[in-house]
Amino acid sequence: TKRITLFSLLVGGGILSYYVYLESHPGQQEKQAPFFKNGQKKKTIVILGSGWGSMSFLKNLDTSLYNVVLVSPRNYFLFTPLLPSCPTGTVEIRSIIEPVRAITRKLKGEVTYMEAEATEIDPVTKKITVKQSTTVHSGHSGDDSSSTKSTVDYGGMEEITTSVDYDYLVIGVGAQPSTFGIPGVAAHSVFLKEITDAVTIRKRLMDVIEAANILPKDDPERKRLLNIVVCGGGPTGVEVAGELQDYIDQDLTKWMPEVASDLKVTVVEAKSRVLNTFSDNLVHYTQDIFQDTNIDLRTDTRIKEVNDRMVMGTRHAKGGDEYVEFPYGLLIWATGNAPRGIVTSLFSKIDAQRNAKHGLFVDDRLLVNGTDNIYALGDCSTLKYAPTAQVAFQEGIFLGKHFKALHEIDTLNYRIENAHANDNVESLKRRVDRLQKNLPIFVYNHKGSLAYIGSERAVADLVWGSWSKVSTGGSFTFLFWRSAYIYMCLSVKNQILVCIDWAKVYMFGRDCSKE
Ligand code: FAD
Ligand code: NAI
Repeated sequence: TKRITLFSLLVGGGILSYYVYLESHPGQQEKQAPFFKNGQKKKTIVILGSGWGSMSFLKNLDTSLYNVVLVSPRNYFLFTPLLPSCPTGTVEIRSIIEPVRAITRKLKGEVTYMEAEATEIDPVTKKITVKQSTTVHSGHSGDDSSSTKSTVDYGGMEEITTSVDYDYLVIGVGAQPSTFGIPGVAAHSVFLKEITDAVTIRKRLMDVIEAANILPKDDPERKRLLNIVVCGGGPTGVEVAGELQDYIDQDLTKWMPEVASDLKVTVVEAKSRVLNTFSDNLVHYTQDIFQDTNIDLRTDTRIKEVNDRMVMGTRHAKGGDEYVEFPYGLLIWATGNAPRGIVTSLFSKIDAQRNAKHGLFVDDRLLVNGTDNIYALGDCSTLKYAPTAQVAFQEGIFLGKHFKALHEIDTLNYRIENAHANDNVESLKRRVDRLQKNLPIFVYNHKGSLAYIGSERAVADLVWGSWSKVSTGGSFTFLFWRSAYIYMCLSVKNQILVCIDWAKVYMFGRDCSKE
């Protein structure tokens, strides 16, 4: 047995070292020629965004077949499923991000990356306007108080705006948090969409804790500061509430017991239940866990106005709606997605998109309706699926293969246009027709939904093929949730870092320092 254990350890260690070596020595990308050997010019694909959809597409694209330009204000990929764990320090921010260049350097062909935001798309001239950007924010540019805007002083240099031509455009800009135009939301709440939001939540949480600590116990201001309100009982709201309550129960009680016992997390949800897309038994299980852990859940309650210290709304009751208000020290807003400005501006430029509201209408091959060279994937498009990482990731894989087939078609068309006397043009045309007709369509394979609900418990609606569906919740599901997310991390480096973070919390707990 000892020998087998030793052998397994050596083999395991060897494989891990090999992966770590590959991660840290990605190799140098070769400069790409703009033409193929047959004289055909490489087509330019411009990809917008560095999130789930775009990065999955890039990883599955044969980048040696195209001139590839990636435009995104965020120069890293963010593993969003573990973002709710960041404000409390369960997982460190750097463990869930992967630099864009670490990804592009491993690809077959060269990729040009521009740290910039697309500000306009012109589908007629096939041109996009991009503005250099060092700002990563959730959305609501200008009035988004949650964003920690990093601005760089360029010594009097003008903001850089330029344009990029494309043959194909792939839009993967995601969505921004919705506010439904509710007064005060953008100014006073924090979203949970980007790393900057997690940093802001952390800072405000520590601010209110320290401020409350110096106020007398019976001061009403202390009570207000110690109320954390989470608006929205979807998976984002539930996960962040669970993480905050864990922090209070497992760590803050050790550092500042007086404050911890008065700190209250309230989740406000407009519908009659949280986690609306999960099975009934898991919803009840979640609500029971919230009750056990003292998370105050207010269902049937819709927030309608926010000011700098209070959220106000109505509770739907049998006798009619009643007015409710919640004083708060920290307000986290998680009421779902709204389309980004760059996407809504396209709605008005393409006839077939005039009725679009939530995202771009696309066909079964993710081609934007009303265009023949613009594709959209992930949260910025409208398909019949929920806006999740799982969908965006699978769409990226599909598009990677689709563009391989498109290249084959483009090459045949080039041969037709430049045919020699002895070429059988009709046969080439038939091949193009066949390829075009047989282009596969996107089929989503739903593997299930998972959510962390706090106190080391998770809920999971799992699907195996078309025959089996399992709904499970509890501590075992929590272990499954952790394993699944480790498996899903984009790089071995991230997998190792996240495991180290969890081990650190297990051994030393989370602290209460400000960053
Ligand atoms: P994103 O991943 O949001 O990427 C959009 C990219 O576009 C970003 O790089 C952004 O910087 C860039 N961009 C924005 N504007 C522009 C512009 N004008 N020009 C160029 N680039 C631009 N889903 C799951 O399936 N499981 C989960 O557990 C899960 N957990 C989540 C937890 C949280 C806290 C959140 C917020 C979401 C979670 N989701 C989860 C949902 C999932 O993150 C999204 O569905 C997914 O990120 C969508 O991928 P995307 O590529 O469309 O957009
Ligand atoms: P969501 O759209 O899933 O939920 C938002 C909730 O806010 C809804 O239940 C809605 O009823 C409520 N709401 C809206 N307006 C309100 C108001 N004025 N007052 C009170 N409540 C209000 O949004 P969420 O959680 O941000 O998720 C966005 C997407 O990301 C979803 O598709 C979700 O599936 C996905 N996601 C998945 C996760 C997972 O699988 N673990 C984790 C986080 C997000």
